[in-house]
Amino acid sequence: MPLPKAELHLHIEGTLEPELAFALAARNSVALPYADTEELRKAYSFSDLQSFLDLYYALMAVLRTEQDFADLADAYLARAAEQGVRHAEIFFDPQAHTARGVPLGVVVDGLTRALAHSEERYGISTQLIMCFLRDESADSALETFEAARPYFDRISGIGLDSAEVGNPPAKFREVYRRAAEAGLRRVAHAGEEGPASYITEALDVLGVERIDHGLRCLEDGQVVARLVREQIPLTLCPLSNVRLRCVDTLADHPLREMLDAGLLVTVNSDDPAYFGGYVEDNFRAVRQALALDQETLRRLAANSFRASFIDDRRRAELL
Ligand code: HPA
Ligand code: ZN
Repeated sequence: MPLPKAELHLHIEGTLEPELAFALAARNSVALPYADTEELRKAYSFSDLQSFLDLYYALMAVLRTEQDFADLADAYLARAAEQGVRHAEIFFDPQAHTARGVPLGVVVDGLTRALAHSEERYGISTQLIMCFLRDESADSALETFEAARPYFDRISGIGLDSAEVGNPPAKFREVYRRAAEAGLRRVAHAGEEGPASYITEALDVLGVERIDHGLRCLEDGQVVARLVREQIPLTLCPLSNVRLRCVDTLADHPLREMLDAGLLVTVNSDDPAYFGGYVEDNFRAVRQALALDQETLRRLAANSFRASFIDDRRRAELL
């Protein structure tokens, strides 16, 4: 039985499995430039973050209707339940859909239709976090934020993803200020491909409560010391880090050193359809590659609940 855990770094669009992509392509009469799922899978060989993002955005063309988004989320929840997930904080990329002419309401209604059944059907509580694409403009993020106001009762927080280098956190100061004012939680990808200084900037300028990835904090002892002191959670994604070449091999992953340093790290799947596994697959992979014992795995699972945005009652129930 997989350990009960929370998943805190999961892009719902990154759960689009090749089989579902082809089924949705047929349903929506969208032509895919791949003959079949096998040929598509062969394209999942990435040299860096951008090479992944190019395919990730291209494949989203098959997501068009409310039903598509509901099917996508439901397929994820079914997989997550098998992997021991009891709580999921799920990212989505509104701009990646509105830019293709899919209205924001279609995306949110579709996703939340599936999430509404999640506790009852799968025993998984959920929250939605809308991410801004950091390689788009600050004005586009603001416009998206304002367009999302009618849905704030179904959105817990905001995040920042896509191409990191050259798009520092401070670019999004205003949208994070408005999110704080609106009572939304705040997270951001930082220190995946970008420098450790982006982590500091996300904390100081954007006021984030959690850092997604944060791997490159290790390049600056002062940043590590601060993350330890303030117990800022980091949502690590080991299989993603290997596939996007942030680390050479899983055996080189610094997860153990990060735990030993006292960092509040969690293990997550990022884009499981693309990176070779869901969250328990990530747990299993690091257990094997880094020879982690059961106590360490339990600590990682406990960290996931501690780092989550669930209320204290549910946290006590899950811990
Ligand atoms: N990094 C940045 N943006 C993303 C990722 C990621 O790992 N996955 C989906 N969008
Ligand atoms: Zn991510």
